[in-house]
Amino acid sequence: MNPLRRALLAAALVLPAATAFAAPLTMGFSQVGAESEWRTANTASIKAAAKEAGITLKFADAQQKQENQVKALRSFIAQKVDVIAFSPVVESGWDTVLKEAKAAGIPVILTDRAVKVSDPSLYVTFIGSDFVEEGRKAAKWLVERAAKTPNAALNIVELQGTVGSAPAIDRKKGFEEGIKANPKLQIIRSQSGEFTRAKGKEVMESFLKQRDKKIDVLYAHNDDMAIGAIQAIEEAGLKPGVDILIISIDGVRGAFEAMKAGKLNVTVECNPLLGPQLMQLAKDIVAKKPVDKRITVNEGVFTADTAAKELPNRKY
Ligand code: AHR
Repeated sequence: MNPLRRALLAAALVLPAATAFAAPLTMGFSQVGAESEWRTANTASIKAAAKEAGITLKFADAQQKQENQVKALRSFIAQKVDVIAFSPVVESGWDTVLKEAKAAGIPVILTDRAVKVSDPSLYVTFIGSDFVEEGRKAAKWLVERAAKTPNAALNIVELQGTVGSAPAIDRKKGFEEGIKANPKLQIIRSQSGEFTRAKGKEVMESFLKQRDKKIDVLYAHNDDMAIGAIQAIEEAGLKPGVDILIISIDGVRGAFEAMKAGKLNVTVECNPLLGPQLMQLAKDIVAKKPVDKRITVNEGVFTADTAAKELPNRKY
């Protein structure tokens, strides 16, 4: 607990009720980076919700590097923040620093991405999406679409997210699980586009240059990579959404615009607006109220035919 908060709480014990006041809570938050439209919306939601909740936010951008996150977490521990929240760049390698937070008595909340740790008591709770389910939803759309196409086989290329990250691992797993019963659907290439537009474009260009097999479908682990790939497909003289079916994940405004233009076929929603729930959780945890170990959010699937109608309602 930070010294100011401790002093204010101590004062509250000796002061009459009317003069006692609640100390502001301090949260250290380590963000993955600014790699996508989703991430920008997530950061904005967290900053706005902290302000609204009267929580002092110490925000650190890890620029997609785990070493930066470990440094940020250690700095939050040294500053004796009341609670640490972070969205881990990758799943593994957190045991040591989380043990340090636990030894310092600072509760840890995972947001958006989960971790693999030897002891689940190293964090209090996780709030975010079910990434495996998102992969399954993407596959379900394709299986239904494949049933309506005369093609004997549909060759899929996959743009994976950041290597070792929970969304890349889980979205791959859910998608593979969803298509495995259909021999018509085969992933012919799969490579990381690091969740960015620039890398998504670059990897798609290299997929398109390998002319041994025709590409029928692109499955991108996020909208930004799909939008980058759309550019590559157009530059190769093909029609995205028509010559190559495109499935992605997030449901950001850019994806809705691409769907409206007929260049993207479907996006599976992943809600980045976690700020208000995160701040409430932090308050509950510091007040020693019980919270669930895993809190997931409800999300939909949006197709090109509903994009124009839905676009004005999108909040990110
Ligand atoms: O962890 C969530 C993922 O991270 C989003 O789908 C992606 O756009 C972001 O970079």
